Amino acid sequence: MTQRTLVLLKPDTVRRGLVGEVLSRFEAKGLTIVAMEHRAIDGAMADQHYAEHVERDFYPPLRDFATSGPLVSLVLEGDEAIDVVRALNGATDGRKAAPGTIRGDLSLSNRENLVHASDSPESAAREIALWFPSL
Ligand code: CMP
Repeated sequence: MTQRTLVLLKPDTVRRGLVGEVLSRFEAKGLTIVAMEHRAIDGAMADQHYAEHVERDFYPPLRDFATSGPLVSLVLEGDEAIDVVRALNGATDGRKAAPGTIRGDLSLSNRENLVHASDSPESAAREIALWFPSL
């Protein structure tokens, strides 16, 4: 089934000059970019995006990181796109993510892990509405 998913190329991806590398992997897989924006977010936007994590111990530094510089937000579309993108991204912790995945190949961190992607159809709908209200 064709799905859409919300992806963030986090500030570390932009700082490290890896936007092209990461986008290439999504495009090479056959996913379609249906919206994309380069932007910085404030703390309130981070709180909305990470609503399920705001009470967690790891959230304050995650909030600082998410607001530390510009990021790229995009919507990808394709067959089973939600699970496909999460598989391409790899496990959350870059130190444990499998080689061949974006995090496994390019990240050594649990926080600065380059990418975010929606984890379910419900979160995809919520996150796409938050980041791209006109879609
Ligand atoms: P993401 O897929 O954007 O969803 C939540 C984010 O929180 C995750 O990627 C990481 O950037 C971060 N994160 C999750 N768990 C931890 C943790 N234990 N320590 C630090 N950051 C974390």
